[in-house]
Amino acid sequence: MLENFMKSKILVTGGAGYIGTHTCIALYEAGYDVVVYDNLSNSSREAINRVSTLIGQTIEFIESDIRDAEVLKQVFASHEFFGVIHFAGLKAVGESVSKPLLYYNNNVGGTITLLEVMAEYNVKNLVFSSSATVYGDPENLPINEGSPRSCTNPYGQSKLAVEYILEDLAISDNSWNLIALRYFNPVGAHSSGQIGEDPNDIPNNLMPYISQVAVGKLDKLSIFGNDYPTVDGTGVRDFIHVTDLAQGHVAALNYLEQRTSSINHSDMTKPVGFLPINLGTGKGTSVLELVFAFSDVSRQAIPYQFTDRRAGDIASCYASADKAKTLLGWQAELSIADMCRDTWRWQSMNPNGYTKVV
Ligand code: NAD
Ligand code: UFG
Repeated sequence: MLENFMKSKILVTGGAGYIGTHTCIALYEAGYDVVVYDNLSNSSREAINRVSTLIGQTIEFIESDIRDAEVLKQVFASHEFFGVIHFAGLKAVGESVSKPLLYYNNNVGGTITLLEVMAEYNVKNLVFSSSATVYGDPENLPINEGSPRSCTNPYGQSKLAVEYILEDLAISDNSWNLIALRYFNPVGAHSSGQIGEDPNDIPNNLMPYISQVAVGKLDKLSIFGNDYPTVDGTGVRDFIHVTDLAQGHVAALNYLEQRTSSINHSDMTKPVGFLPINLGTGKGTSVLELVFAFSDVSRQAIPYQFTDRRAGDIASCYASADKAKTLLGWQAELSIADMCRDTWRWQSMNPNGYTKVV
């Protein structure tokens, strides 16, 4: 039914992952044609199968590593891409501290290989997954895109390094159009309950930890610190529903399509260059507020205890989302209750993630 409206073809690296799967659905619904490229290092074929079921057609999937230039070249030679959404990367902060070379090799080296192949095939439109982590411990809240950048761990440094590379690339050649979307804290799951976040091990992040306590896989949540200068002493973050985040990628691509078509037809339009944009709600929620909201929605008790602060954590972090609204016409729509409800649906329907369905 959507074929008649089929727009451009997009390569989605890391498209089998948490944010990638949700974005593939949003892209398909917006009429984009999608090719997923993923080495499945942190995801599964089952996730791709479920995306295909949800959109009612088989998604084209290439199982390979972005560091493999030869495979990438074959893919670019056999498709005509408008652009690339580049999710592929490793994301565990703690692991990045013990395996920095792996993180730099994969996240920075992999991105350089991808950019080289894009240049060779003259595909110069990119949406990159950056992170609010590039702001370090912010001086001012809400955080806008002009805030100073600094990072304290190899994962964050790898995101920052890629941002610098993209900036230099845009300066070197103004035919590149490079958007870095700085995500705040993505949570939630698809409203079908069929796809969601599936951590490999004991979760590092708050929402999957809470949901695994709720479903009985973990005994109790440790809340890292209750003496921060916040509303209730616990950390404050800008949680954003992954479905809203996915729509932000569609908005970024639409923006690139409009801008590149007007560049082609008017000398008056400036190139996009390197464009960083926050994707957040603009609202802060504390750890305790999220625990209570999840408990309300799921009607499950979430036992918790306060423990010491986690090394490297900051007190508060939330976005100014004005730039996304002004430039992309995008803003987050879904509430904290929606995020908890959809996480709970995914968790309770798939207590063991993609590996076992009940
Ligand atoms: P994810 O791990 O679920 O997805 C990443 C995908 O990339 C996985 O499917 C993995 O198999 C794939 N991948 C990793 N290295 C690859 C390689 N060398 N070649 C091919 N595929 C590779 O993570 P996610 O939460 O969906 O995050 C997507 C992107 O967004 C990542 O770059 C991450 O750093 C960034 N990000 C995530 C968050 C978050 O909290 N989830 C916050 C800010 C930024
Ligand atoms: N927290 C707990 N207990 C837990 C897990 C987390 O109390 O078991 C607290 C943390 O101390 C923090 C808040 O919950 O105050 C959020 O922690 P997360 O680990 O969920 O998220 P972070 O804000 O630390 O980091 C996340 C991603 C990073 C990303 C950053 C900004 O993990 O990769 O958001 O996008 F860079």
